[in-house]
Amino acid sequence: MCGIVAYVGYREAFPLILKGLKRLEYRGYDSSGVALLEGDKLNIYKKKGKVSDLESELAGKHLTATIGIGHTRWATHGEPNDVNAHPHYSNNRRLSIIHNGIIENYASIKQNLVKKGHVFLSDTDTEVLVHFIEDIQNETGDTLESAVKLALKEVFGAYAIVVMSADHPGQLIAARKGSPLVIGVGGDEFFFASDATPIVEYTKDVVYLDDYEVAVVKDGKLNIQNLDNTETIPYIQKLEMELETIEKGGYDHFMIKEIFEQPRSIADSMRGRLNAADAHLQLGGLNGYLDKLAAAERIVIVGCGTSWHAGLVAEYLFEELARINVEVEYASEFRYRNPVIRKNDIVIAISQSGETADTLAAIELAKSKGATIFGVCNVVGSSIARATHAGAYTHAGPEIGVASTKAFTAQVTVLTLIAIATAKRKGTINEEMYRQLLAELENVPQKVNEVFENASRIKEIAFIFTYARNFIYLGRGLNFPVALEGALKLKEISYIHAEGYPAAEMKHGPIALIDEDMPVVFLATKDSSYEKIVSNIQEVKARKGRVIAIVTEGDTLIPGMVDFVIEVPKVHEILTPLLSVIPLQLLSYYIAVMRGRNVDQPRNLAKSVTVE
Ligand code: G6P
Repeated sequence: MCGIVAYVGYREAFPLILKGLKRLEYRGYDSSGVALLEGDKLNIYKKKGKVSDLESELAGKHLTATIGIGHTRWATHGEPNDVNAHPHYSNNRRLSIIHNGIIENYASIKQNLVKKGHVFLSDTDTEVLVHFIEDIQNETGDTLESAVKLALKEVFGAYAIVVMSADHPGQLIAARKGSPLVIGVGGDEFFFASDATPIVEYTKDVVYLDDYEVAVVKDGKLNIQNLDNTETIPYIQKLEMELETIEKGGYDHFMIKEIFEQPRSIADSMRGRLNAADAHLQLGGLNGYLDKLAAAERIVIVGCGTSWHAGLVAEYLFEELARINVEVEYASEFRYRNPVIRKNDIVIAISQSGETADTLAAIELAKSKGATIFGVCNVVGSSIARATHAGAYTHAGPEIGVASTKAFTAQVTVLTLIAIATAKRKGTINEEMYRQLLAELENVPQKVNEVFENASRIKEIAFIFTYARNFIYLGRGLNFPVALEGALKLKEISYIHAEGYPAAEMKHGPIALIDEDMPVVFLATKDSSYEKIVSNIQEVKARKGRVIAIVTEGDTLIPGMVDFVIEVPKVHEILTPLLSVIPLQLLSYYIAVMRGRNVDQPRNLAKSVTVE
């Protein structure tokens, strides 16, 4: 969702901001814009559509400012058009602002300002905020910095903002509450962005702004205070991100690059944590918490989208291995109930971005009820990673494609490690099983590579089903969440209607949809529910459904019953999702490409959903 890039220093700001906005395109947006301080004038340029549309519009313009703010907007208040795009001016056009988040009480503030003669051009909540700051400055005669703080004390909602003033050349003011903001600290230059991707090629020194903090860059110096003027010393961290991880590296799309990265990303999520030869398994982030996990009466898992699916896999893992009762909740539902949290409950929050607003709110709610919260996040230093008591990073590297692929397998890997470590501590698995699982886990990256050998076969199947209008995905046990994930991948990027179901539930509804036009993807690997799945396949075939089955290598029964098979290597049942999801990711990708979809930035979707 909305992306922020701002710069002050000695370079030309416009090309740098434009490049940064392109790096943030993956977050999802529908318009973009920049404000540049040219001489003593704030000039704003904005455009509905892609950043490249803004670029074309400004081609040939001589834009040499060395200070500027830029934004990609994902519409909330007001339709996506040129006027509603950010940045916005204040009433006297001496201030401009970019904003990520929602100002919930903007309507009442706007009413007062209108009475005072303010004229608003857009339908946005953001424009109200910058007018409000100007109004406070006029009323109090205070510095811009104090006016920003006073305004922020009055607003409800979430924000990351950057404010630029025509009266203060060389100064940028940024603040956050609930929406991410990273500050890059270079020699004589500063960068502000929603995440580190626009910054990494210039500096690896970054400061993550905390909620209620206001950062002011003035006279080449960074100063951070909270809303009550208490100063904090900026804590500069080193980025571990490498530039090549956020570029396509010869692939057509980030999504396919990230699918093929999975042998490495799964290995990275185990690196330093697992050594099967020594029967060693240790997650540094859980030190001191493993006993608590082992003693938990219940684990509540919260997440959204693909992360919620990883949670469903974890439900099976913790129940099977550690014999702990698990409940998996959509964060958005959990946060608006009055959930029962008991003393020995543990909450695990799963999030790739670490910024999902609903997941963050669910954490705060569980915390307020005294729960211990673990985070399983991909983005280091993200809000969720910082809001949890303990946790384990997934180390999948930056995921740019909106449809989550490598983050899912990394989440499942890390959750598997946590479940095995808990089971070992609890004594619910024996030494032999423990060693076997560790050894099998270590071999998963190699087995994922073997699945890739079927890529051209999957492409052929994708070609046959390119124009299907519906898809059903069926699986049982650990393959049920995989069926959900497969259906989600397909609908996200190809816009084909797809549903995932537990295979046995098919008889209670979806079977009515089956005819010769309905493709049905069965997750039919050799596991404890194999015979049952075989019966379900027969039920679909009896109604002329067209079946694509994901089977275990060497299966001789199912290939004779179905229309298409895709083999995956044999693996311990517990680890099945790590392999069975891979063909589904590839199938969705190839179908979407064949339909000419924008795979990395599907319509209406955002990579990190920072509003509820
Ligand atoms: C969005 C993304 C999904 C993601 C979900 C949860 O919907 O498009 O790919 O699974 O948010 O995001 P998180 O960053 O919390 O895992």
